[in-house]
Amino acid sequence: MKVEITKSGYEKLKKRFPWLYKNELKKVPECDKGSIADLIYKDKYIATAFINPFSKITARIVSFKKETIDKEFFEKRIKKALKKREGLKNITNSYRLIHSEADFLPGLIVDKYADNLVVSFTSAGMDNFKGLIIEILINLLNPKGIYEKGDKIREKEGLEVVNQTFYGEVDDEFIIKEYDKKFLTFLKEGQKTGFFLDQRKNRKIVGEYGGKKTLDLFANAGGFGIYANASFTKFVEISPLACSLIERNCELNNLKNYEIVKMDVFKFLESEKEKYDLIIIDPPAFAKTKSARTGAIKGWKYLIVNALKLLEDEGYLALFSCSHSITSKDLLDLALSSSIIERCNLEVIEFLKQDIDHPYILNIPNSLYLTGVLLRRL
Ligand SMILES: C[S@@+](CC[C@H](N)C(=O)[O-])C[C@H]1O[C@@H](n2cnc3c(N)ncnc32)[C@H](O)[C@@H]1O
Repeated sequence: MKVEITKSGYEKLKKRFPWLYKNELKKVPECDKGSIADLIYKDKYIATAFINPFSKITARIVSFKKETIDKEFFEKRIKKALKKREGLKNITNSYRLIHSEADFLPGLIVDKYADNLVVSFTSAGMDNFKGLIIEILINLLNPKGIYEKGDKIREKEGLEVVNQTFYGEVDDEFIIKEYDKKFLTFLKEGQKTGFFLDQRKNRKIVGEYGGKKTLDLFANAGGFGIYANASFTKFVEISPLACSLIERNCELNNLKNYEIVKMDVFKFLESEKEKYDLIIIDPPAFAKTKSARTGAIKGWKYLIVNALKLLEDEGYLALFSCSHSITSKDLLDLALSSSIIERCNLEVIEFLKQDIDHPYILNIPNSLYLTGVLLRRL
């Protein structure tokens, strides 16, 4: 099938952007979800794409070169992705093996938890190749089990959200080993695909500034606080399941002096009076869309101003945004305007981003989705 694209679509693909919206196709073909097509501009082949007339993202680029999309094609790309991550084997037993467009496999996410694999198919095109992809993963990795995690995003592709053990047996509870730390996770019911793997390197970097009193806000399983290995750590987290994980993870890592506060961070900051030497703020994506940005900026300002009130002089503040609509530049601007209110200086110690198993491809601006900054109060 051939599909003609518009000039603006062509301009995007020239920069090797991986998607086109409906209005960037001259005419949306009436085809099955995820059909494969050659994208054409002025009679010239430009790229091969999955086409989904049902989805706002109507074309997802599979290749910029004319090639057959078959088992050999997927095997080559998967092998490339696996090779890229080989260095991580020395650091952890759990990492992302395939990160969708950022590994040139649009709609395929694969996480490895030792010999368990957790997979998500988030595009109709990739979903059509599910059987083949699973076969390749089994051949290359010989896993004990494969669990399919149903991402809500599938609904946007007109796909059902399914959660199922796809192959073999998958551990319910699993211990992630990362550097010298251990984290318990529930592979089937945890957030994302079980654990925030993308923060691995940042946990380590920020943890090195720990030691003294630490406040881990939006703590999830307690990763940052545990790495900080502080004389006292307070974890604040709203989810009961995550709070029970923090408890178990503190035990696993021999953290003795800590408190878990099961509470909304915004409420907690209204009344907290203790001072800390390290504060981490790692909230969920407040602003998933550009229109929600104003509210998110306001929320962030509240968090930073109030965290600064609790931060000792010479203390460290780590800020993370996992939304494209709040960039690292926004975090710096927010920190600056908050420092003016709190009458202090802030020194930039580190710029941070998602770990390398979640690649940032310069041609795909959205692939930089997690940014952070570590500051020191002066
Ligand atoms: C991005 S995750 C934190 C990841 C964690 N720092 C790590 O490295 O694993 C955000 C966490 O904030 C929690 N959360 C969301 N809204 C909250 C709120 N208002 N107050 C407290 N926790 C909240 C979520 O349950 C989630 O565990």
